Amino acid sequence: MSEYEPKLVCFSCKFSWGYLTDEDTLSSKIDNWVPIICTGKIDATHMLDAFKQGADGILILGCPEGDCHYQDGNYEAKKRVYLIRKLLESLGIEKERIRIELSIDPEGKRIPKLAEEMRKELAKLGPAKRSPVTEKRQKETVKARGGK
Ligand code: FES
Repeated sequence: MSEYEPKLVCFSCKFSWGYLTDEDTLSSKIDNWVPIICTGKIDATHMLDAFKQGADGILILGCPEGDCHYQDGNYEAKKRVYLIRKLLESLGIEKERIRIELSIDPEGKRIPKLAEEMRKELAKLGPAKRSPVTEKRQKETVKARGGK
C-alpha cells in the first residue's frame, strides 16, 4: 500500500533564507524549493497555479517584518496570502494549505525543518481538493510524460 506524500511548494526569499548555503544543497534537501528575489514577487496567480499543477500546500519564507529589501514586498505577500486563504476557505479548501513565515535563516537550516513540519500538517489534511477539470488535465499531463 502506498502512503500519501503531500506535494509542497516552498518559495523562499534569497535575502533572508539560505543565502550562506549553496542553492544546489538546499534544493537537494527540499522538493519543489523555489528561491526568489522577494516574496512581493509572488502574486495570487503563482499560488493558484501551484495548486493547479498539483501542489497540496505552499510555504512562503520571506524577510522579517520591516526588513524587506524592496520596502514592503513581504507585507504585500502577507496580504495576498491572507486573501488567498480566504478564497480557499470559500471554496471549501483548508486555509492551512498556505503558510507564510517572515524571519531570517542565513544558513537555511530551518527551511527543511519548516517544509517537513508543513508536509506533516498537509498529510493530516489529505490531498488538496481540485476541480474535475484540473484533475483531468493533471492526469493527461502525467500520461503525456509517460507516467501512469
Ligand atoms: Fe525578502 Fe522582500 S526582499 S521578502
